[in-house]
Amino acid sequence: MTKRPIAYLAGIGSATPRRVVTNTDLEKTLDTSNEWIVERTGIRQRHFAEHDETLTSYSLVAAQQAIAQAGLSAGDIDGIIFATVTPDHRLPSTACGLQAALGVAGGWAFDLVAACPGFVYGMAVAEGMMEVGLGDTILVVGAEKLSSITDQTDRSTAILFGDGAGAAVLRRAGTDGRGILSTYLGADGTLAPLLHIPGGGSADPLSEELIRDKRHLIKMAGREVFKAAVLAMSRSTDEAISRAGLTSSDIDLLIPHQANLRIIEATAKHAGLPMEKVFVNLERYGNTSSASIPLALVDAVREGRLKPGMVVMLVSFGAGFAWGSVVLKW
Ligand code: COA
Repeated sequence: MTKRPIAYLAGIGSATPRRVVTNTDLEKTLDTSNEWIVERTGIRQRHFAEHDETLTSYSLVAAQQAIAQAGLSAGDIDGIIFATVTPDHRLPSTACGLQAALGVAGGWAFDLVAACPGFVYGMAVAEGMMEVGLGDTILVVGAEKLSSITDQTDRSTAILFGDGAGAAVLRRAGTDGRGILSTYLGADGTLAPLLHIPGGGSADPLSEELIRDKRHLIKMAGREVFKAAVLAMSRSTDEAISRAGLTSSDIDLLIPHQANLRIIEATAKHAGLPMEKVFVNLERYGNTSSASIPLALVDAVREGRLKPGMVVMLVSFGAGFAWGSVVLKW
């Protein structure tokens, strides 16, 4: 393998749908309370897309920001990796939809299904594609419309998820040391039933009965997922740090998947990182699955928490189960 860094993030962007739904709003339709949600998760509000807002429409805003920040135009993009579990259509990919919305054609484009760590998986895939000569400038998007697959009458999931989009332009690294220092990916498909959508795929195609039974919506065993998340996120931090040849004291900022504040705190504790070195913004967005890490990256830069030269670790976990981590020099 070529000596790392092979790829760096030249530009990032994010966008959310307009409508903000607070915990107090949810109190009106669910047997829950703002206090319970804040205490158990840390979430205070989330964004839900309205009918005129498609995944492509708000991902386009994030992608255009990332491309502009990289000092490029859409025509400079060699390929698009679009991580999502809520594509606009079953066919074709949302990556192709985004390519068309960007007004370009010719480069490659595909969707990547890895649930919450989708953006981290996408970064690892983009780096690999650069390594084998399939592009020098790759757009990686993590975006979701989880409100479309959440049972809004199920208080154990409806309080958690939100919609949003994040994007990054990865470019071939120069000689300044900026870029990806390590990647780690993992999965355990035997645990799939703990967090899944049982129907609506080709194994159990759409039917009136399926919709009546809500088999097209997320089912989750919260406590079991919580335990598995802490284990996998902890392992992911260990792997990313050691693969980069670093120790936890070298990490300036941890950007974890924004699912639950208690999972984040346990992960940080395991990695030996004080919460001052951990970026948290889940109170504003809830769990946005593959959009979570890029939304946090953008906010961390905006808030001055992530500055050039810092070493940042991204770590994520989700349905599959799948997990992964990346260490990079910003
Ligand atoms: N409001 C009020 N009460 C609720 C509630 C809500 N929104 N959701 C569940 N409860 C109740 C339960 O019914 C249960 O009541 P009982 O004791 O009378 O049976 C009680 O609260 C405790 O439920 P439990 O599921 O044990 O709570 P918890 O502390 O594990 O928190 C989650 C629930 C979902 C917040 C937590 O398990 C979690 O975050 N899990 C991980 C989920 C996740 O991150 N998924 C995505 C991974 S990418």
